[in-house]
Amino acid sequence: MKRSAADVWEELRNQVDFLAEAGGGFVLRRPEDGLEAARRKALEGMDAQVRDCKLCALHTLRTKAVPGEGDRSAELMFVGEAPGRDEDLQGRPFVGRAGQLLRKIVAAMTFREDEVFITNVVKCRPPDNREPFREEIEACAPYLERQIELIRPRVIVTLGKTAADRFVPGRGGMGERRGRFGDYRGIPVMPTFHPSYLIRNEGDRALKRMVWEDMKQVMALLGRK
Ligand code: URA
Repeated sequence: MKRSAADVWEELRNQVDFLAEAGGGFVLRRPEDGLEAARRKALEGMDAQVRDCKLCALHTLRTKAVPGEGDRSAELMFVGEAPGRDEDLQGRPFVGRAGQLLRKIVAAMTFREDEVFITNVVKCRPPDNREPFREEIEACAPYLERQIELIRPRVIVTLGKTAADRFVPGRGGMGERRGRFGDYRGIPVMPTFHPSYLIRNEGDRALKRMVWEDMKQVMALLGRK
């Protein structure tokens, strides 16, 4: 009977584990184990850099910078605008009211929170939750670019205008820009409304329906029903 690559690998690993236990003093690693470890290390290094970053004036006002969280090899990445008050206090993205709604959307899409990666265009809170300035966005941009390079998501969902502008710049409001995949360096990007906007327009069921339509397209692309 023909053995699968996985069977051969398992057998080899058992043999080598046995030899290692017997005093061989070596371990067998797949080439991608090393790559994975390097990727993880690079992302952790970047988190530390973000927490220590002084590239723009926002660092003088922050309690904690918010690099992002989730699966470091996620196929689905969400990008918001910038941390708010709760996020600044906890150092975690989307943990306030908008975050609770985002996390419900993620669950409705049949993803666990720790299966996706959630981050923002700007990693420190702008005062009074104002929109980030262009200089702040530009100063922070290399962090987000590097996160995307390292995580290599299959799809990016942008939440609100600041994030949409970063990836798929266009004219008009989100109502016109949502619902169609754009492209960022070969990665499909779905712009949709920011959860805070849904909260501000709580009674507007049509808005919620539109976001869900957008997410259904993302699920279809990722092979989730
Ligand atoms: N809004 C955002 O854009 N990001 C957060 O992390 C929280 C609220």
